[in-house]
Amino acid sequence: MDDFNNKTYVKRRKEISKLMESNSCFLINSANLKFRNNDSSYFFRQDSNFYYLSGFVEPDSLIMIENNGKSTLFCRERNLELEKWDGFMHGVDGAKKTFGFDECFDITEKENLIPEMIKGKTNLYCLIGKDKNFDASVSSWVNKANNLERHQANIDIKNFSNELGMMRLIKDEHELSLMRKSCEIAAKAHKKALMNIKKGMSEFDIESLYLNYFREGGSNFPSYTPIVAGGSNACILHYIENNKTIKESDLVLVDAGCEYNYYASDITRTFPISGKFSAEQKAIYEVVLEAHKKSTEAIVVGNSCMNPQKTSEEVISQGLKDLGFLKEPLEEILEKKLFREFYYHKIGHWIGLDVHDDSPYTYKDEEIKFKENMIMTIEPGIYINESAPVDSKWKGIGIRIEDDILATNKGPINLTNEVPSHSDEIEKLMA
Ligand code: GLY
Ligand code: MN
Ligand code: MN
Repeated sequence: MDDFNNKTYVKRRKEISKLMESNSCFLINSANLKFRNNDSSYFFRQDSNFYYLSGFVEPDSLIMIENNGKSTLFCRERNLELEKWDGFMHGVDGAKKTFGFDECFDITEKENLIPEMIKGKTNLYCLIGKDKNFDASVSSWVNKANNLERHQANIDIKNFSNELGMMRLIKDEHELSLMRKSCEIAAKAHKKALMNIKKGMSEFDIESLYLNYFREGGSNFPSYTPIVAGGSNACILHYIENNKTIKESDLVLVDAGCEYNYYASDITRTFPISGKFSAEQKAIYEVVLEAHKKSTEAIVVGNSCMNPQKTSEEVISQGLKDLGFLKEPLEEILEKKLFREFYYHKIGHWIGLDVHDDSPYTYKDEEIKFKENMIMTIEPGIYINESAPVDSKWKGIGIRIEDDILATNKGPINLTNEVPSHSDEIEKLMA
């Protein structure tokens, strides 16, 4: 932690304190260590919201931020015996100093101290619904606090998810540099994989390449379980078995991104295992690529964040009509959402600390408008299932193209465009 600078995190805590009403505070808990079996734990990853406000990566911790800007950390006290097994712990004094808190207490004191600290407050803000045990603790602390201050109005528990989510929506300089790096590592991995994938490889073989390239690039792990789907497996949106052989005529859809210093990237490419698209595969690919291009262009500062969705529906519907898959007039296809037979997910999502970043799309009854330094994925797709009412030559084709797009005042910037998406460029790379 020698080079850790708490400035960014202290600033964020001050910012969130300004969003509170007077005489109020915000409580947030860390992630908990989860056990796989007996004493073998899963790798500990801090909760993204907690990390965003602290940079502190230990479990069993809690932060209170008050509307006057004061912030208090509850964390584990140092334990030299435990540290022999699980590694360094900052402890109360160390954490207070390193992470820039005004006050810090031993987490074992929380049941005594929190009701005392919140008694008489007007509002207690928290992220309701994320952790049932924490929600129950909050209710119990509020009950205790209300009993301690019987003659005052009861404390209002309010959800602060939208407010924190709105803060996370606009990436600061620190976040932008990490997002660029995460995107760069993932894009390089996709590109290198395309250059090394050969006929005869299985989904498993291909996944191994990506995992290896992520690590080689400096990422510890993927930002979500990768999808490596040969042939019709690509039509299953959450396919993660990644264990089948791939037929020589099949496309492969790889949706894989990495996490770098807590920041996620998210890329999908679809390519023919043979290195050459068939006529049918290419025809559908071009529609998806056009939807990708037009939807990316719809990421315009000042426009609604729903514009790329609308654009993708229009381009894909026209494409499906041109291919003869849908016969109805375009207006009817859009109105009745008939394209959903083939395009059954949304165009994208916010991305940052989480691959599906914890930020709203509508706030105070209004669609959010793009502002500089928001990042959204653009990931149109067309999937032709066995049940689709089309000629059998099309069946089993599933194509998605996904990139991570930064909104700027000068127009959208594709952070993952180092990996080609045009069909001829992909063929060239695979040759
Ligand atoms: N990889 C998850 C997604 O594309 O949304
Ligand atoms: Mn995505
Ligand atoms: Mn994805």
